[in-house]
Amino acid sequence: MSSATDIKGVRARVASPPRWVAPVKIAVFVAMLFPLARLVFLGVNGGLGANPIEFITRSTGLWTLVYLCITLAITPLRRMTGITALARFRRMIGLYAFFFAVMHFTTYIWFDKWFDVAEMVKDIGKRPFITVGFAAFVLLIPLAATSPKAMVRKLGRRWQILHRAIYLIAALAILHFWWMKAGKHDLELPKIYGSIVIVLLGWRVIAWLKTRRA
Ligand code: HEM
Repeated sequence: MSSATDIKGVRARVASPPRWVAPVKIAVFVAMLFPLARLVFLGVNGGLGANPIEFITRSTGLWTLVYLCITLAITPLRRMTGITALARFRRMIGLYAFFFAVMHFTTYIWFDKWFDVAEMVKDIGKRPFITVGFAAFVLLIPLAATSPKAMVRKLGRRWQILHRAIYLIAALAILHFWWMKAGKHDLELPKIYGSIVIVLLGWRVIAWLKTRRA
């Protein structure tokens, strides 16, 4: 076993990984490419529907949210199962969330609006939920930029504080989704994802209260 840092949650990452981690990591990496492969497959086969840009925006937005939720679920799962090596998957899944957010954002500003700022301002006036999505995206950038192990070591405790922004990002993502769907009177999915995020954040609040009382 190599030495461990005292940064909470990062301890498992610096210890030698169990042997199953590497193959499972490769399998997870490949599996998480599925939404992209699906989009490419549908695109090539004309399966993106009457409005392909809308289809891609919605698909990449939803997968960003799914990967954000999985990233948030790692710590509770690690604590509940005692499988500390799960922490080794968090960075990769978080970066996948960022990757899909970049695709979601790029689809909007490039293929939907063709970098036309006046058009975007007009759209945001009509659909203010876009601003909330943008705020979530901007907050994700420093987290992705500080994800390399060297940055974890360099920032020390400040890394942990910075990465707490994931909670705010998840809340903003739900608000963005909810607000968008509220206009369409279709809140079924936002309610499901909202409940998942509430449970995942609620678990952290309870865990924090327990450590304060101990
Ligand atoms: C962490 C960042 C973000 C997350 C998690 C996210 C998530 C989502 C989700 C879940 C949807 C609804 C998908 C569906 O209908 O099933 C959506 C829609 C949308 N998002 Fe985002 N989003 C983010 C950032 C952004 C940004 C930065 C922009 C643009 C500046 C944006 C623009 C849009 C637009 C325009 C739609 C609606 C598409 C339509 O009406 O067809 N989002 N987003």
